[in-house]
Amino acid sequence: MTAKIGTAPGAPGSRIVGLGHYRPDKVVTNDDLAKIMETDDEWIRARVGIAERRFAAADESVASMGAQAGAKALAEAGLQPEEIDTVITATCSLDSPAPHASTQIASLLGIHAPGSFDINAACAGFCYAVAAADQAVRTGASRNVLVVGSEKLTDWTKSDDRATAIIFADGAGAVVVSPSDEPGIGPVQWGSDEDHTRTIRIEGRNGHFIQEGQTVFRWATSAIAPVAIRATRAAGLELSDIDVLVTHQANLRIIDAIAKKIVKEGGRDDLKVGRDIVTTGNTSSASIPIALDRMRAAGEVSSGEVVLSVAFGAGLTYASQVFVCP
Ligand code: UT7
Repeated sequence: MTAKIGTAPGAPGSRIVGLGHYRPDKVVTNDDLAKIMETDDEWIRARVGIAERRFAAADESVASMGAQAGAKALAEAGLQPEEIDTVITATCSLDSPAPHASTQIASLLGIHAPGSFDINAACAGFCYAVAAADQAVRTGASRNVLVVGSEKLTDWTKSDDRATAIIFADGAGAVVVSPSDEPGIGPVQWGSDEDHTRTIRIEGRNGHFIQEGQTVFRWATSAIAPVAIRATRAAGLELSDIDVLVTHQANLRIIDAIAKKIVKEGGRDDLKVGRDIVTTGNTSSASIPIALDRMRAAGEVSSGEVVLSVAFGAGLTYASQVFVCP
């Protein structure tokens, strides 16, 4: 007789119970960048929407910034480090592929013996990591998961390349995902476009980010809103149920184009939209949790509101899900 393999008892649902972020202290304005490359404040504000961004100090890393954000998410969740059994970090800018970021973050926070792994889905990584955490909790593989999005993009950006250096920045965001009787995280809609594997890339060990900006711009403004709409429907919701839209903070014109389509397809006129890129820049997999936490801190978003998150980036990859704001 073939032995039967059992499954772990999972939770009916999962939800986000804590959120935190970390932005480095160093503010870099467009005028600062204009001193080292051919660009200007007016062009950057008009074409990208960024007024200033944050750059990490030499002694700050993906792991140290991730731990700072993670500590805040843990505090809000009211959980001790020993209550976390899994750490998942989304990053595409680790200084070295080993050791991976999650094990370093666990060590910095005093989290004992967690399951730990990183996800590299570039700027889409945070939504992938939240989905992995939700699935781990619902299948019983994990109980309390620390999900981190952390990036030190300046390590992988040519400092005078005006196609990338005006956009990319550093920072981290984190959430804690825990079991819940009522689902607080909707099904993920994820995918990728295999015709554009090299549209955003780093060539070789000593390379830096290269992107075909116009191609990414056209793709993001046409392909991404439908993914977010599918994620809303997959959660059994209508677009009118969405209180807050937080997209990956890539370009203010992309954010506004996605928001416009969501409203046109049935989203509310008073839909709140994350536009944190203006003062934080593009922090890749950290951008969604940073943006949401800052909207909350500013009193624009409240606990219990329904958030539609959608992220996209190199790969080209994308992912989207609905969740309840902690
Ligand atoms: O998070 C990862 C996903 N990445 C993205 O979502 C990026 C999406 N793409 C973009 O955000 C935009 O394509 C960029 C911001 C990267 C570039 O903006 P663009 O409007 O697509 O500019 P462009 O490259 O088509 O260049 C337009 C003009 C050119 O001048 P001419 O040929 O029209 O005279 C460029 O030389 O703007 C010039 N230009 C600049 N001028 C001042 C390009 N970059 C700059 C700059 N400062 N930094």
